[in-house]
Amino acid sequence: MQVLEQTMTVQEAIKSRHSIRKFIQETMPREELQEILKLVSLAPSAWNLQPWRFHVITDTVLKEKLQEAAYGQQQVTSAPAVIVVASDMEDVLANLMETVHPGLTEERKQEEVANLAALFGSMTVEERAQWALAQTNIALGFLLLTAEGFGYSTVPMLGFDPIKVKELLGLAEHVKLAAMVPIGKKAAEGYPHHRHDLNRIAKFH
Ligand SMILES: Cc1cc2nc3c(=O)[nH]c(=O)nc-3n(C[C@H](O)[C@H](O)[C@H](O)COP(=O)(O)O)c2cc1C
Repeated sequence: MQVLEQTMTVQEAIKSRHSIRKFIQETMPREELQEILKLVSLAPSAWNLQPWRFHVITDTVLKEKLQEAAYGQQQVTSAPAVIVVASDMEDVLANLMETVHPGLTEERKQEEVANLAALFGSMTVEERAQWALAQTNIALGFLLLTAEGFGYSTVPMLGFDPIKVKELLGLAEHVKLAAMVPIGKKAAEGYPHHRHDLNRIAKFH
């Protein structure tokens, strides 16, 4: 069942999204957070491995601790919810059968699992964690725009001590964090967009 109303087109969401650091003090229903994350889970990833894992924090005390780990950045406790976007490649590898397409024959599934296990088995835990983090960042982009499309604002954050955040959430050492994302209804505007000219970032060959 859909609980959120789409308020804008993708183009409008891209243009209106700004990092917001002050939020209206109003709880965010779990169903709405779930609906946003369900859409975010449609993000693409290489081999469809979907290494992203979302930790949704609404508990006031835990948010205060996260804020401390984020060097006191006020947006963490200002937001009704904080989504920590994590990447767990070891969990993916321990459950490879989950990621192969259900439409494949049993034999093809086994083959695919063996190929993936061999490929990632030849990398170090750190190398494959970095590889998975690149995939997880795609979901992070989807999250910012999905929230915006439903009238919610966000600020992606990397200004935190990852060891402390992982400790607070009980996450294993190999887990990487793509961002901490406070989310809620905005109580203040963000900064106007300031971006490179297209000629600076794009070349047509
Ligand atoms: C990966 C990432 C990490 C960021 N970390 C922080 C942060 O720790 N604190 C903060 O206030 N903003 C943070 N930002 C927000 C950027 O400052 C912001 O996206 C950029 O200035 C462009 O502004 P806009 O998002 O309003 O378009 C981060 C953004 C990204 C993408």
